[in-house]
Amino acid sequence: QEGTAAAPTHAGMAELVPALPLETRCPPFALRRYAGFWQPEGVLRRGLPTLHARFAPRPTDVLLASFPKSGTTWLKALAFATLHRDAHPPSSDADHPLRRRNPHDCVRFLEVDSALEHTIEALPSPRLLATHLPYSLLPERVVSAGGPRIVYVCRDPKDALVSSWLFTRKASASAGVDGDAFSMQEAFELFREGRCCCGPQWRHVLEYCEASRRRSGGGGEVLFLRYEEMLRDPAANLKTMAEFMGCPFSEEEVAGGVVEEIVDLCSLEKLKNMEANRDGRWNVSGIRSDAFFRKGVAGDWSRHMSPEMGKMLDKTVEDALQGSGFSF
Ligand code: A3P
Repeated sequence: QEGTAAAPTHAGMAELVPALPLETRCPPFALRRYAGFWQPEGVLRRGLPTLHARFAPRPTDVLLASFPKSGTTWLKALAFATLHRDAHPPSSDADHPLRRRNPHDCVRFLEVDSALEHTIEALPSPRLLATHLPYSLLPERVVSAGGPRIVYVCRDPKDALVSSWLFTRKASASAGVDGDAFSMQEAFELFREGRCCCGPQWRHVLEYCEASRRRSGGGGEVLFLRYEEMLRDPAANLKTMAEFMGCPFSEEEVAGGVVEEIVDLCSLEKLKNMEANRDGRWNVSGIRSDAFFRKGVAGDWSRHMSPEMGKMLDKTVEDALQGSGFSF
């Protein structure tokens, strides 16, 4: 029994979750397959039902969505700095929230039920929120016309896998789990079967890509970005994103270099070296803040996977995406 995406309730999920397919080989969480995707048990038991029961979207909300390790932290920083640039000028505000806090503390995940209960509802509009949930698990009122605008970032699956494997090894200790025993080979095989947090990765990406094609105008739209394109031309992507979020850069701002200032503030080197991200802890989850910043390049997979493994994963993904009109 695998469940469906029909509005999950706390009582319903408490009964259903123990019967769902279980995967315990991906540290640090036990995963269960629900409606075609592998999710941490805690998300299925608490986060998802809380989201469906409580979350009241506002038309001005912006939702940042991603498969884990695809550039979420960067997207959060860029969107936050852009949306709040009047209150917090990127270059001159020495006390800018991104200089004091990890981007994940500035923009909270919707499926973390404590965030829903204590933080998100109290935020002033326009709210900036985030999710790793697949599109099909979002409440109907989030994806319907008039719902939040959604910005999605996708990344080459090979780099997402390697980034995730290294993150798991570094961050698992925070959850009291020894991540060092998790080998690349094991991570690779599980990822190819879609058995990883929020996996299969390509299905996650495809759902948002299809939604971005379906919805244009009338609210609930999805802006589909690629991490590799953002690396290639961060300023152009940031301008597109600002326009989509409803806060386009004015000609004066562009001429005054505000776009570049935000790109600079949110660069990997800058964020990585800020006090809060060096040795601070992400206080909500207890994950080491520095674990979110590593190399930030395209193609680093080849340092950790053989060319054959790369080809095998490409083939798995290509086969799964056949006929969809989408490719990485
Ligand atoms: P690598 O492990 O390949 O370096 P997420 O934020 O979704 O968890 O993804 C993490 C990946 O994004 C990591 O990739 C990390 O280094 C990279 N990243 C974090 N901050 C970034 C930034 N400001 N600019 C570019 N990449 C960044």
